[in-house]
Amino acid sequence: MKRAIYPGSFDPATFGHIDMIERSAQIVDELVVAVLINSAKNPLFSVQERVSMLEEITGHIPNIRITSFNGLLIDYAREADASIIVRGLRAVTDFEYELQIAQTNRIVNSRIDTVFLTTSLEYAYLSSTIVKEVASYGGDISHFVPEQLIDRIYAKYS
Ligand code: PNS
Repeated sequence: MKRAIYPGSFDPATFGHIDMIERSAQIVDELVVAVLINSAKNPLFSVQERVSMLEEITGHIPNIRITSFNGLLIDYAREADASIIVRGLRAVTDFEYELQIAQTNRIVNSRIDTVFLTTSLEYAYLSSTIVKEVASYGGDISHFVPEQLIDRIYAKYS
């Protein structure tokens, strides 16, 4: 059983995240989507909100599980019995940070490898931060997130 973890803040999840989840789920037996709990980033959505939004928008993918985690990702990956961490690379700017984290994680636990997927070109520009910026000014976010999430995101700024 090949199990991978796709970790992130998902604040909120975007079409880019869904694309990564769909593609990762195709190459492993089970994909655990793991929402970081104690983010220093002062998230817009609570962990429970982020988990339930992810559950709603990924209901069509059979071999995934949405969870949340506290502390170090590499420790959570071991607890979840995952041998792979999946991360997406949008551009060179992502690479330096991701490489450092992947190498650190491998020093801590060499039995867990990080695998990078390049994001689909159509979502290469997209981030949760961009979604929040546009939404905060009442702009159109329908190109960035699934329809079910749109009102919930605007509501945070009303
Ligand atoms: O969606 P994000 O914000 O890019 O996700 C970042 C995340 C959650 C993958 C990363 O911050 C993380 O793994 N945090 C948990 C603490 C940890 O393990 N840090 C890396 C080792 S120093």
